[in-house]
Amino acid sequence: MSDIDRELRVSKIRNGTVIDHLAAGHALNVLAILGIDGSGGESVSIGMNVPSDKLAKKDIVKVEDRELSESEVDVLSVISPEATINIVREYDVIEKKRIDRPEYVDGVLACPNRNCITNDEEPIHTRFAVLDDGLRCDYCGEIVREDEVPAHLDVA
Ligand code: CTP
Ligand code: ZN
Repeated sequence: MSDIDRELRVSKIRNGTVIDHLAAGHALNVLAILGIDGSGGESVSIGMNVPSDKLAKKDIVKVEDRELSESEVDVLSVISPEATINIVREYDVIEKKRIDRPEYVDGVLACPNRNCITNDEEPIHTRFAVLDDGLRCDYCGEIVREDEVPAHLDVA
C-alpha cells in the first residue's frame, strides 16, 4: 500500500489542527484533554493504530476549526512527547510544532488529593511541576504518575 493510500484512511481537513504521531492508544486521551465528547458539534476524525513510518503504529486526531491552548499542548506533551501538532489553513499545513516537555502544566489536570486546596469550593487553577516520570501538585505535593494522567484530566 502506498503512503497516499494510507493517508486516505482519514481524510484531509480544510481548517483546524492535526495531532499526528501520537503514541498508539492515546487518541481518546487527546479527545479528553481537548474536552471533546461529541456534544460540542466539532468535526473530529480519529485514526487508531494506523501504520506509520516513524512509529510502528500511531494514532492521529484531526479537529476542524479548533486550535489548541498552551495548557492543552503542555499536558499532551506529557502523555505523548513524540506528537506533532499541525495547524491547517485552507488545506495547507501552515505550522508544524514538535512539542517540548514543559516545566509546568497549568489547569487541565485535577489534583487527586481531595484535601488539596485546588479541590476546595472556591476554584483555584491547578499547577503541576513536570518531573521525569510524573507530575507534582504545586500546592500539596501529590504525585500523579504519567500513566495516571488520563484519569485526572479535569474536563467538564
Ligand atoms: N493533514 C490533514 N489535512 C490537511 C493537511 C494535512 O489532515 N489539509 C494531515 C496529514 O494527513 C498528516 C499531517 O496532517 O497526517 C501532517 O501533514 P504533512 O505535514 O503534509 O505530512 P508529513 O510531511 O507526512 O508530516 P510529518 O513529517 O510530520 O510526518
Ligand atoms: Zn494538590
